[in-house]
Amino acid sequence: MGGGNGHVLVFLVSVFFFIISSSVDGSQYKQLSTIHVMNSMAKGSGPMQIRCKSRYTDYGMQQFGEGTEYRCGVREKAVYYCMGMTGRRIASWHAFQPRRDGNRKAVFWLVKENGIFLSWDNSTWVRKSDWETD
Ligand SMILES: *[C@@H]1O[C@H](CO)[C@@H](O)[C@H](O)[C@H]1NC(C)=O
Repeated sequence: MGGGNGHVLVFLVSVFFFIISSSVDGSQYKQLSTIHVMNSMAKGSGPMQIRCKSRYTDYGMQQFGEGTEYRCGVREKAVYYCMGMTGRRIASWHAFQPRRDGNRKAVFWLVKENGIFLSWDNSTWVRKSDWETD
């Protein structure tokens, strides 16, 4: 029967496209951790610009308002830096650091008037960085 090989071919072609599509949709990234940044600046301070990046990944400049959270994924075991800007102030810090953060699934940052604070449980905070003013 002539149709047999045709079915096998259709089957192989669909397997091929299934494999291709599942490797380009981003699911090959195993997310190691999530960086959470909470904007806790004073009311009326306006939106904050933030850019988080590693050597391999760059999430670009994003904006998030007072009282809201910015979030991005850690895709590689590498140092991630975040840079925050609001008005004339600028701060940068190591948002994810493999040696410090290990296998923790979330790293929380609180951005406040008096500095940048780190937490692993979203409740106890340690001040890690400060604003620079020009
Ligand atoms: C962290 O805590 C704040 C304040 O309690 C809460 O609003 C926020 O949803 C928490 N974030 C996460 C990701 O649990």
